[in-house]
Amino acid sequence: MIDLKRQYRSIKDEINSAIEKVLDSQAFVLGPQVEEFETLIAAYCNTKYAIGVSSGTEALLLALKSLGIGSGDEVITTPFTFFATVGSICNVGATPVFVDIDPESYNINADLIKKRITKRTKAIIPVHLYGQCADMDPILAIAKEYGLKVIEDAAQAIGSEYKNRKAGSLGNFGCFSFFPSKNLGGFGDGGLVTCNSDELAEKIYMLRVHGGKTKNYYPLLGTNGRLDTLQAAVLIVKLRYIDQWNECRRQKASYYLEQLKELKVSMPKTSLFNKHVFHLFVLRLKERDKLLDFLKGKNIDCAVHYPIPQHLQKCLEFLGYREGDMPEAERAAREIVAIPNFPEITTSEQDYVIDALRAFSKQVKIYN
Ligand SMILES: Cc1ncc(COP(=O)(O)O)c(C=O)c1O
Repeated sequence: MIDLKRQYRSIKDEINSAIEKVLDSQAFVLGPQVEEFETLIAAYCNTKYAIGVSSGTEALLLALKSLGIGSGDEVITTPFTFFATVGSICNVGATPVFVDIDPESYNINADLIKKRITKRTKAIIPVHLYGQCADMDPILAIAKEYGLKVIEDAAQAIGSEYKNRKAGSLGNFGCFSFFPSKNLGGFGDGGLVTCNSDELAEKIYMLRVHGGKTKNYYPLLGTNGRLDTLQAAVLIVKLRYIDQWNECRRQKASYYLEQLKELKVSMPKTSLFNKHVFHLFVLRLKERDKLLDFLKGKNIDCAVHYPIPQHLQKCLEFLGYREGDMPEAERAAREIVAIPNFPEITTSEQDYVIDALRAFSKQVKIYN
């Protein structure tokens, strides 16, 4: 699905010297590169604050905690996301309330949100899935009407834009992940929270260091949630290339779209108001499982994000959801497949995938 070695080789000298600087300084925890990276990302996302944390999951957790969301509260989100979105809500003691997705974008269907709001609802977490922003204007309007906070799960969407505004700058918080396979990937775990509020930013800064500003005094109950200096150093280098890499992803995606248009498989659709960063290039077809086997036989890596919609996870049985409750998310879980799309993929590699898909469509009738 992705060859991280190619990216590393292309910027090896810059990365190695950035790492060496950290090694020379031995300032591994909250060294100067963390603040430098935060300043760069805040400028990139056009937010007042960007606070480096230890993972995308931690970013979500700290955003929720800073809002005081916990037991007895409800948080509306999509079931079609990586588990961390939902796990974070549960881990602060709140209850996730699911709203089904829009089948074209795979993002939360804003038209269905209002029905799920109760007196306990405190926040909405839209997820910008696969690198495309959720339809944020109606979500923000609902949030304003009901006095709810909006936490963007932008883990897959760094650099993507909604109506010319960057992912992570639209809600009260933007939560990013720098997991190695993300569009901006570190050399291990890492994450970041963006926001514009002085008060909330201060809480996040405190929460990521156990809840205090000064050692031994802890007004808040926080955790060890800092971004490592080494990760920040790597990410500073990679951030220089993110726009170029995202543009490459878009170009590779256009090539697939052009070459595969005659197939009956559903292709990714970019909403007019969005600039997609194609973290994943996702096809959709009823015969998905047959295609998975077929591509495996051709040594082509592909992936299903996500085979189980989160409302049907075993650990969430207590919430009482059943199959059929979120029909679009469930259908997507059965029908989608991501094919390799990363900045360094070559045209001949893409052609190999394209030829395989054409061969499959000759062999198997596609009923989409
Ligand atoms: C949509 C989404 N949310 C949250 C996360 C969690 O990020 P992390 O793996 O950095 O904790 C991820 C990535 O893995 C993700 O894809």
